[in-house]
Amino acid sequence: MFKKNKHEAKEMPKPQTEKNTKFERGINSITDIIAPPSIEVDFGHIRVGDKFYRTYFVVGYPRFVSPNWLEPLIDFDQSLNISMFAYPTTSSDVLDNIRRKVAEMQATLQQQEEDNKVLDPRVSAALEDALAVQEELAKGIERFFQFSLYITLMADDQKELGEASRRLKTLLSSILIMAKPATLQMEAGFKASIPLGQDQLYLPRNMDTTSLASTFPFTSATLTQDKGVMYGINQLNGSLIIFDRYSLENGNEVVFGKSGAGKSYLIKLEIMRHFMFGTEVIVIDPEGEYSSLTHALGGEYVEFAPGSAVKINPFDLSGRYEEGQNELGLKILSLHALLRIVLGEIDAQHDAILDRALVETYRLRGITSDPATQTKQPPLMEDLYKVLLGMEDETSRDLALRLEKFIKGSMSGIFNQQSNFDIKNPLTVFSTKGLEDQLRPVAMQIILDFIWTKVRKDLKKRLLVLDEAWYLMKYDDSASFVHGIAKRARKYYLALTTATQDVQDFLSTDYGKAILSNSSLQILLKQSPTEIDLVSEIFYLSDQEKQLLLASGVGEGLFFAGLSHVAMRAVAAPFEHELITSNPEELLRRQEKERIIDQDASFGVAKEMPQAPQIINPSAVSDPMDDLEQALAKPLSTQPVLQPPPEAPTVKAQSAPSAASDAFEQALFQQPQVPSIPLQPQANQDVKPVT
Ligand SMILES: Nc1ncnc2c1ncn2[C@@H]1O[C@H](COP(=O)(O)OP(=O)(O)OP(=O)(O)O)[C@@H](O)[C@H]1O
Ligand SMILES: [Mg+2]
Repeated sequence: MFKKNKHEAKEMPKPQTEKNTKFERGINSITDIIAPPSIEVDFGHIRVGDKFYRTYFVVGYPRFVSPNWLEPLIDFDQSLNISMFAYPTTSSDVLDNIRRKVAEMQATLQQQEEDNKVLDPRVSAALEDALAVQEELAKGIERFFQFSLYITLMADDQKELGEASRRLKTLLSSILIMAKPATLQMEAGFKASIPLGQDQLYLPRNMDTTSLASTFPFTSATLTQDKGVMYGINQLNGSLIIFDRYSLENGNEVVFGKSGAGKSYLIKLEIMRHFMFGTEVIVIDPEGEYSSLTHALGGEYVEFAPGSAVKINPFDLSGRYEEGQNELGLKILSLHALLRIVLGEIDAQHDAILDRALVETYRLRGITSDPATQTKQPPLMEDLYKVLLGMEDETSRDLALRLEKFIKGSMSGIFNQQSNFDIKNPLTVFSTKGLEDQLRPVAMQIILDFIWTKVRKDLKKRLLVLDEAWYLMKYDDSASFVHGIAKRARKYYLALTTATQDVQDFLSTDYGKAILSNSSLQILLKQSPTEIDLVSEIFYLSDQEKQLLLASGVGEGLFFAGLSHVAMRAVAAPFEHELITSNPEELLRRQEKERIIDQDASFGVAKEMPQAPQIINPSAVSDPMDDLEQALAKPLSTQPVLQPPPEAPTVKAQSAPSAASDAFEQALFQQPQVPSIPLQPQANQDVKPVT
């Protein structure tokens, strides 16, 4: 029974193979993992798992096509698979066929002529095309292909599939494509449109090389929403980059670029465009670059300098109670951060004393962690100074001495008095240009804290711009404060923009990185070779993108929104450019123009009536090259007396421009076409998009 004969011995491996097969069947394969639970093939669709698919095949193409003519199909906003199969054909076979076809068509036309019938225009057109193709094939200018195009729509249910099919058909007919559903062949259609390279439908149409080439979907990403403001022009396809930052998960934005790359220019453009849609804009402007823009838009320009009229008390409380939040505790934390910058290096002992002193300073004014007490008048820096002096030990006396410059020294005027200023104007710009360099970060932090306190008081759509953010990012404490704002801004309908030229410094701190990851919009302008590696590592840039950033011109760069990014160029209308440029040459030209207008105005009524300036028509100043004046001439001739700005500032801004130049700038802003220009594609006709 157990004896094996020769024959049996030869067949020994068989049971072994079966065993192996069984074993292998029990192993998890890729097919097991990716296979759908079920497939149901219907007449008009196929269901794979819980998704429904419907395949269309193209039966007719337009007579003429232009490059990238399939782009609307590629950009169709419904998930779909598109597959194309191109089969090269030998020209001699095709030529025989065409010759036969041509003869047929000529015979048809001849017959119609003999019967005295009107010639069928479709046959005439087809004959014309066939003769042209015949000639090109014979000369070897073109080659011949067979081309099949399948489109498979996918949807979650049949209703959605029906709806998507309707939209697809409308789209296809708009680009003159005739398509039909692959009824009863949905499985073959589905397989033809997944990346297997198998044309199981095989429904090709004839095409020559040129037509086939123009069918290739060269497309690039577009970043356009149907609302928002225009950021620039997509450098690849010339489309507009329109974005509503408030619609993203947070409205924050960072702008990185080397000095002179066009950061402030881009931000100013954005400010103008947001402002027109009623967003309240607050700017911290350390370099004093936003003044002409502010005056032109009727905004309030608040300058901080020793002896300026505007006062801000860093001890202000928002007076707003939020569930689970200790307002006083938060304020003391932020004062702590501020004082660490003011006082320089302090150790743990100093820190503890400072904390006690701050609590005591508020307590002396009757303010405690009870929200009801927090509407009382807040203490001043001087009160803290006195408390520290009163503590009568070496450490606190040392702290008091270091604080002295705020009470008696150069900063005493601005930050040691009760606030006499409120943000009322829809555009408020705080300039710290008048302060010494070392004091600027302190002032910026105080202003930022003041703004943050105000912003939390009432909910409004706001944009807060922090230009030259590196002033704050170089101190850990102020960087952490900016990060805190970036994190919480969304809850207060606030969008924070931070711009910096010091990318290395910004990104070398954890706070900088955190601000970046809390910003849905990121704009990279021209980078310096020393910083490009860091930037490309953080933004995962490709080599081409690195090159683009190194070689880009002023105002050019990459625009990131969420996961997508495009190459962008910021463009301004001529009247916008006049208001926002910081080119010294252009500024000098502009000052000269203002001087001439001023001079002319002084001969008119403007001197006697400074409150309601009447501007003489500047077109009287003859300068044929002067396009600005041409822009001015029109609105001024129709609106000779200009309106005052919408809201009078609480505190008169320093160095107010002369009445005439004020009106001059208002005139620029009051051009009737201003609000519509940035968002109207046709308004950009004078801008040459890169195609
Ligand atoms: N898109 C643009 N089109 C035309 N001119 C531009 C554009 N962007 C910037 N400029 C001009 O380039 C110069 C530098 O721009 P800007 O002041 O915005 O640079 P920046 O990046 O803010 O530099 P910094 O870091 O030194 O402040 C200015 O004269 C400005 O008018
Ligand atoms: Mg700048």
